[in-house]
Amino acid sequence: MRSPALMDNLESEATGPRALPHFHIPVLLHEAVEALAVQSGGRYVDCTLGSGGHALAILEASAPGGQLLGIDADPRAIAESRGRLSGYRKDALLVNDNFVNVKDICTRNNFVPVNGILFDLGLSSRQLDAEDRGFSFQHDSPLDMRFGPDQELTAADIVNSYSESELADLIYKFGEDPNSRRIAREIAAGRPMKTTLELATAVLRATGRRRDKTHPATRTFQALRIAVNQELRNLPLALQQAIDLLGFHGRLVVISYHSLEDRIVKNILKQESAGCICPPAAITCVCGHAARIRLVNRKATKPSQEEVLANPRSRSARLRAAERT
Ligand SMILES: C[S@@+](CC[C@H](N)C(=O)[O-])C[C@H]1O[C@@H](n2cnc3c(N)ncnc32)[C@H](O)[C@@H]1O
Repeated sequence: MRSPALMDNLESEATGPRALPHFHIPVLLHEAVEALAVQSGGRYVDCTLGSGGHALAILEASAPGGQLLGIDADPRAIAESRGRLSGYRKDALLVNDNFVNVKDICTRNNFVPVNGILFDLGLSSRQLDAEDRGFSFQHDSPLDMRFGPDQELTAADIVNSYSESELADLIYKFGEDPNSRRIAREIAAGRPMKTTLELATAVLRATGRRRDKTHPATRTFQALRIAVNQELRNLPLALQQAIDLLGFHGRLVVISYHSLEDRIVKNILKQESAGCICPPAAITCVCGHAARIRLVNRKATKPSQEEVLANPRSRSARLRAAERT
């Protein structure tokens, strides 16, 4: 059953008369709050604050007395959420940092143990639509793609300094693009490159015109973003820390948007919910591994047709949840 407060939150952003179309529309909002089993007076961490949509819903559902620690690598997301969560100033602590430091951040702020931790991975619509961030080929912008301005490596650094075969490997591994070799050859031939349009044009030259709804450069852009932000390195480290931070019956909820992320989440939850993890051939257990969590949903939760229609960017979302035992 959806709480009226949550209904109001979702509908005012998506369709209602008080619509705020410039905000990122939170994906699987009700499902995430439900999977977190949010309770009054609980203590929650939102590791990917973005525009603060999930955070606001968590604060509403945990009132009175709920507390939220929100993290985002992007200072603009922190500033935006600070305004949006101003009604909960006393209850919300917002930290501009990478979630790979979540354990340290919570410990430093005496925010342990916690009742729930949320990861809503990837980037927000605000970042995707920003004309100066380089995440999208819809605008001609500098090849940046960093979540945080303090990060050193940009997409331009990778595009212009990796060898052709390193670029091909990266596009294959992080973009799962079977045309990676041809794309890398075109990129190498067109260097130096400064802008998203130059990159998208090189990919189009390599692959030909689009045959379906997806632009051929989508996978190359995804691969570069993952590499720039070390997303597949940071995620497993942060998930392990998150499990450490959960109190008894505390919930971990992760929303991912592509198969590479979802595979990492699924494998960590599977491993941490298993007792013995010795190879099947082992006669006696030597691993000493004990289950730390139980799975809340065996299969990933997907957005409803209604949600996908209202917000096509939710299409690929997969939510997985686990409870600390
Ligand atoms: C999909 S958006 C979250 C949207 C948010 N749930 C909402 O309702 O508005 C993902 C956010 O996570 C942030 N992010 C991604 N990876 C991060 C990381 N490793 N550390 C901190 N923030 C990260 C991005 O900057 C972005 O703002």
